[in-house]
Amino acid sequence: MADTQTAAGTLKLEFRHEPVMLAEVLEQLELSEGSVVCDCTLGGAGHSIAMAAQVGETGLLIGIDQDDMALAAAHERLDLEALGTPRKLLKGNFGDLDELLCSAQVPGVDGFLFDLGVSSPQLDIPGRGFSYHEDAPLDMRMDPGNNTLNAAEVVNTYNEADLARILRVYGEERYAREIARQIVRRRATEPLRTTGDLVEAIKAGIPAAARRHGGHPARKSFQAIRIEVNHELDVLERGLEAAVRWLNPGGRICVISYHSLEDRIVKHLFNEQSQGCICPPDIPVCVCGHVPALKVITRKPLVASADEVKRNPRARSAKIRVAERL
Ligand SMILES: C[S@@+](CC[C@H](N)C(=O)[O-])C[C@H]1O[C@@H](n2cnc3c(N)ncnc32)[C@H](O)[C@@H]1O
Ligand SMILES: [Zn+2]
Repeated sequence: MADTQTAAGTLKLEFRHEPVMLAEVLEQLELSEGSVVCDCTLGGAGHSIAMAAQVGETGLLIGIDQDDMALAAAHERLDLEALGTPRKLLKGNFGDLDELLCSAQVPGVDGFLFDLGVSSPQLDIPGRGFSYHEDAPLDMRMDPGNNTLNAAEVVNTYNEADLARILRVYGEERYAREIARQIVRRRATEPLRTTGDLVEAIKAGIPAAARRHGGHPARKSFQAIRIEVNHELDVLERGLEAAVRWLNPGGRICVISYHSLEDRIVKHLFNEQSQGCICPPDIPVCVCGHVPALKVITRKPLVASADEVKRNPRARSAKIRVAERL
């Protein structure tokens, strides 16, 4: 297979990235022959290939991704490397997990994996507009077919206060107000069209001294706009809530997150769902009848080994949290 011949050919190679913290994922999910496993972020199927091997011919692999390119690449890889395991690959957003699993007539699930964010190949394809290293149209949709909101619309139509809020909250960007002001000033003359235009506006909003450290100056703002375009935090919460409902007793959810906003959501949701009585402390007997659904397995998140971080830069910010269905 030539890696330059066709777009699909290139993709096949590009999607082969080392799956993040694979050994930890496998150990934590405790899958066995016959298990039903659901990979909510199939991507290039890196984790799924290994999970398929564990559940074997009597198990079931459900793979979900909202990105057609990822699904196509995963299909091909699973055909080659995991043919023996029954599978259902579903196109959609894991925020709609209930509908997806209902339509696939899945009875219950023993293990869920969420490996959040965009995949390296998505980042690398300039036309998708995720990368601040390339000049490309301002898009950033993970599901270009369905999602109508794109980065150009956010940047050119949101008012200054909303832009500043998004940059501050979703990007934890210190210069959110200044960057928002720059964006609004520039678009008054001409709309921002490319990632390059956006990078210029961001740079102009950050004092020169601050631009010299802390990685690429556009990193946080790009993260923020991507989260807004794809409603990433809302769908994460919805997806996790649904996953808890679909889990069989003893089944586990494993989430790999890459920034603190995601990690906070996972941590809160696991903690909330692992609580029993939530009555106010001054009530002598329980009236809420609240029953915990989960046991938290990782009090502190797992992080990648120094070796893996050296090999696989994506693993640097990865945090894994795991919970078990009671
Ligand atoms: C980090 S990659 C997963 C890589 C995969 N674990 C592997 O080893 O090849 C994340 C994938 O999840 C998909 N994704 C992200 N958010 C999603 C969502 N809300 N619903 C469905 N798929 C999503 C992206 O399209 C991307 O392909
Ligand atoms: Zn109570």
